[in-house]
Amino acid sequence: MTLIDVIVSDITQETPTVKSITLVRADGSPLGPYLPGAHIDVEGPTAITRQYSLCSTPDAPDSFVFAVKKEANSRGGSAALHELAVGDTLRISTPRNLLAIAAEAQHHVLVAAGIGITPMLSMARYMDVHGISFDLHYFARTESEAAFLPLLNDRCPDKLHQHLGVTRQAQEHVLKDAFAELPPHTHIYTCGPAGFMDKVVAVAREHVSPDAIHLENFHASEQPDASANAAFEVELDGETYRIPADKSIVEVLQENGCDVDTSCQEGICGTCIMQVLEGSPEHRDNVLTRAEKESGEVMAVCVSRTTGRRLVLDYY
Ligand code: FES
Repeated sequence: MTLIDVIVSDITQETPTVKSITLVRADGSPLGPYLPGAHIDVEGPTAITRQYSLCSTPDAPDSFVFAVKKEANSRGGSAALHELAVGDTLRISTPRNLLAIAAEAQHHVLVAAGIGITPMLSMARYMDVHGISFDLHYFARTESEAAFLPLLNDRCPDKLHQHLGVTRQAQEHVLKDAFAELPPHTHIYTCGPAGFMDKVVAVAREHVSPDAIHLENFHASEQPDASANAAFEVELDGETYRIPADKSIVEVLQENGCDVDTSCQEGICGTCIMQVLEGSPEHRDNVLTRAEKESGEVMAVCVSRTTGRRLVLDYY
């Protein structure tokens, strides 16, 4: 994967634990625009690569902004990014969009918790500027911990519904109220801790079809016990490769010189997605949508396998 050299041009302390970091291209050319909801891979100072949603205005071409929450148990990823200074250099991927605004929807409900506000911020900014109908529900522990709250209050106060200090037990009740009277053809988008998104999805399913629910999920799925894996074959470009039980498809393809890009290796970033020409994928990722998984036409080859003996793949 080709990475872009960028320079940190600005840093803002958004909350006691969240910093937003503005990047410009090292060669001075524009970085954007990008599609709202997109994320980038950021290779930090410790060479750890993580995925971060972009939260700048999608239409603004000059710079990208992403926000980092300093995790208490950070092993170098978020902690190292919090040590950055203006003028430092990083490498990033081009934006990828796994949380696209559904073109067929007539109303959009964005539901964010904590740092999950970041993809919702770019979507809200885009929808606000382009006159697209939306509401944004923002859950945070306190006002001072709610990153970008002043910006949202300034830009779209009539769309913003703040839910501060709502206990976990009360979240479901608040969500039921939020989804009680949705206009027809509403799509719901959510980003936040895994348990929170599970609640959003469960309540949303009472009101909209599964295809109208969209998640930004930067958490890996729990993987089945690897001892239950079986070997199988993968055909790519006319060559056949044996995938043993203890290796992923992408490991074998890369060992054999195939040019398959990877980043997270956990089924959450979408970098390694390949086309499935034949065979039945057994999806183990958290990146493809339900419809994409059901189609059987694409798969994330860093974690997913097959329920059969053979897959025929192609580059995506
Ligand atoms: S490398 Fe990230 S989904 Fe496969």
